[in-house]
Amino acid sequence: MRNFVNLNDLTKQEIMTLITTSLAYKNGELSVPKQTRYVANLFFENSTRTASSFQMAESKLGWQQIQVNPQTSSTQKGESLSDTLKTLGAIGVDAVVLRHHVNEWYVPLIAENSPLIPQLVNAGDGSGQHPSQSLLDLMTIYENFGHFSGLKIRIVGDLSHSRVARSNAEILNRLGAQVSFAGPREWYPTDFDQYGTYQEIDTGIEALDVLMLLRVQHERLADQDNVMFSETTYHQQFGLTHERYDRLQKTAIVMHPAPVNRGVEIADELVEADKSRIFTQMANGVYARIAILASLTEDKINDISID
Ligand code: CP
Repeated sequence: MRNFVNLNDLTKQEIMTLITTSLAYKNGELSVPKQTRYVANLFFENSTRTASSFQMAESKLGWQQIQVNPQTSSTQKGESLSDTLKTLGAIGVDAVVLRHHVNEWYVPLIAENSPLIPQLVNAGDGSGQHPSQSLLDLMTIYENFGHFSGLKIRIVGDLSHSRVARSNAEILNRLGAQVSFAGPREWYPTDFDQYGTYQEIDTGIEALDVLMLLRVQHERLADQDNVMFSETTYHQQFGLTHERYDRLQKTAIVMHPAPVNRGVEIADELVEADKSRIFTQMANGVYARIAILASLTEDKINDISID
């Protein structure tokens, strides 16, 4: 795979292979291949989980990390992203893991088709895609249920600003899940109708298999919307309260990509509750990212055989 920028570019078979490979790494059924490669992690937007879990995955693969800090790099002097990446390619960097606020930042770079631009891994583009988060979410769901077909999955919250929602809605629909959405109606992008249905959060909550909560992205809200926002009102109307948690079936799982606004999207004490997989998602992220990075060194995503 030359670049990893949008999970929906892959076939269902390739996605399933990435999921099963990630789980095989986690369960010790497949050893992590040691590789001599050079990688730079460029985060133009803040990150804790994605940045550190890519670093952990790279370390486990034996990749050397070349330190480039966007905040102190020559992008601050006006150097373009393209020239920054060509510079890194020229000095021998094989791959760049990059997060940027511009949607589809990777499209013009791939279109350049320059051999100087290293392999690209999208660690999040604006409100576009978050494919490595999506893979670890799929891995977590598959780890729990062993399939996607027919699972009732509701994605709740700030859908219009969430790259996690956009990545997951499309892919879960393709994999046969019954996807529904809830949250403030004004944060519902109508093009999501093609992936599932908009519902009130409480409608059919007892039958859900997965309740996926989204962070309210204050940094992407208009100033006036931030001023008007009430944490208490949001929590009561759209959050996972104790009452809603108790209505979920025993086998249901609760997910959130994090960071969590405790007491807003989810009651503080429920972040670590039995049905929550929030910290499992983070642990799974390392293995999902090992699978992604390892696949960059292959022409295609090869099926693995596990004895
Ligand atoms: N889930 C996620 O992308 O978290 P970070 O912003 O901390 O990387």
